[in-house]
Amino acid sequence: MPSSVRTTTLPSGEAVPVLGQGTWKMGEDSRRRADEVSALRLGLDLGVTLIDTAEMYASGGAEEVVAEAIVGHRAEVFLVSKVLPSNASRAGVRRACENSLRRLRTDRIDLYLLHWPGSVPLAETVEAFEILKKEGKIRHWGVSNFDTEEMEELVGLPAGDGVQTNQVLYNLSRRGLEFDLAPWSRQRGIPLMAYSPVEQGALARNARLDAVAVRHGATAAQIALAWVMHQEGVIAIPKASSQEHVRQNFAALDIELTVEDLADLDRAFPPPTRKHGLEMI
Ligand SMILES: NC(=O)c1ccc[n+]([C@@H]2O[C@H](COP(=O)([O-])OP(=O)(O)OC[C@H]3O[C@@H](n4cnc5c(N)ncnc54)[C@H](OP(=O)(O)O)[C@@H]3O)[C@@H](O)[C@H]2O)c1
Repeated sequence: MPSSVRTTTLPSGEAVPVLGQGTWKMGEDSRRRADEVSALRLGLDLGVTLIDTAEMYASGGAEEVVAEAIVGHRAEVFLVSKVLPSNASRAGVRRACENSLRRLRTDRIDLYLLHWPGSVPLAETVEAFEILKKEGKIRHWGVSNFDTEEMEELVGLPAGDGVQTNQVLYNLSRRGLEFDLAPWSRQRGIPLMAYSPVEQGALARNARLDAVAVRHGATAAQIALAWVMHQEGVIAIPKASSQEHVRQNFAALDIELTVEDLADLDRAFPPPTRKHGLEMI
């Protein structure tokens, strides 16, 4: 039986699990809804209590799936949702947040992220987040898809140091951010939340992971996930809509990659040697 979920610490001092559950593509097809709800519920039962969603996913439909999954569990869930850049104005953030709360059937979002940088001045969005925090509608705020220069700008703003995470595309085949954004974030104690940690399923089929997987009696997807969770100050949020994948992802917490494994993975997926612009899916 795998051990309980390890945690990392947000700048606020709050501990959050290093493994969460993604929800992109959930809520798009009513025939899959029961499976999606039961996959998320199984995750919660196992202790994978961080759930990531967004107003964008299925135009709010994913938030409604989450609402159903967390019935009776709200107290232990750490709920992450995101506002679209097109809603990032003072009035827009409030409206978007209230709509998300209604769909999520809750009175608070634990961590509310700006989905990607847009045209609304960042200072205005941060101000709106701070007001929502004071009102208790959100507990923390953060950003997503911010490269180093954007993070520099953010932390220089009034209340900009309130940022709790930056959710970014990060996995073995997307290591560019290790050159600067990852060390920058680690130095400031701002965790990265790695989205698409199994490259939307592609790493599960990647033969370059096989040798390490065989050594651990694990699947390639589990090795990809274990590698992300091995990185200091990184939270992985794989999306799994089948119970089997939820169990496998949970079990990946117990995979301890050796120095030899890490060297093999570096050879197969070399780390960056220069700055790369942040990639997005
Ligand atoms: N901030 C952003 O801009 C942004 C962008 C993309 C994603 N995200 C967030 O990050 C989450 C994760 O990213 P993602 O959904 O793009 O990709 P992902 O988690 O890398 O991959 C999801 C795919 O991998 C499959 N999978 C999951 N666990 C597996 C396992 N153990 N073995 C084999 N296959 C497995 C899933 O299948 P099943 O569903 O069939 O189980 C699904 O097809 C999203 O759901 C979303 O919450 C955020």
